[in-house]
Amino acid sequence: MLKPLVAGNWKMNGLRSSIAEVQTLLEIIRRDNLSELTDIMLCPPATLLRDFSICAADTGLSIGAQDCHKDDFGAHTGDISAAMLQDVGAQAVIVGHSERRTDHGETSTMVREKSIAVLGTGMTAIICIGESEAERKGGMTLDVISEQLENSLPADVESKSTIIAYEPIWAIGTGLTPTASDIEEVHTSIRETLEKLTGSSKASDIRLLYGGSVKPGNAAELMSITNVNGALVGGASLKAKDFLGIVSAYQTT
Ligand code: PGA
Repeated sequence: MLKPLVAGNWKMNGLRSSIAEVQTLLEIIRRDNLSELTDIMLCPPATLLRDFSICAADTGLSIGAQDCHKDDFGAHTGDISAAMLQDVGAQAVIVGHSERRTDHGETSTMVREKSIAVLGTGMTAIICIGESEAERKGGMTLDVISEQLENSLPADVESKSTIIAYEPIWAIGTGLTPTASDIEEVHTSIRETLEKLTGSSKASDIRLLYGGSVKPGNAAELMSITNVNGALVGGASLKAKDFLGIVSAYQTT
């Protein structure tokens, strides 16, 4: 059984005053020893990475970033490299989130290049894939997912530092979620595609997160689905109480 991971993606939210919310979270993680059974991560905007990582040092909370450039250094105004994120305390980077694919035209090929950059630093890459509403309605979900996975995943991955997040675009921030059997179907297909791409022993060690409207009220049901090894949480990760409500659903032995 893979240790579950609950990762919170703060997106473009949070100011330095938000550190109070993280301190509340840390107190409870420590008090209840929550990281023994569940890996817990917060991915704040780049501006808060250093503050969050100082605050979370030697606690059960790890810190991740939300995107990076594919190169280490260079003339790329406004961009930040994986090495720079690691330098301010990031231990993981989310790559290929659908908001990046949509807002910045990121293709799976670009996501693969970013994943290679992240893995090259020794950090964990959380690679996001997911279908649109039209693709779901058109019965194309499994084809879209496997195409995205095949083109976004680097050729050679270390299973402990590679995580796949399945996030249906239509479920993000909408309060809608696929049925448990739809999620199970997609996650089983992701596992099978990973077996084909990486070999079965690596594939079985790669954690598969579900993301899209995960809340305290649906977390336990989502966690009980075969091949769901954790959650990528957007809106509900901004409040310590909601995030902890989700983490507690993943406290399984
Ligand atoms: P949500 O976002 O939990 O607010 O739906 C999930 C995500 O985009 O990672």
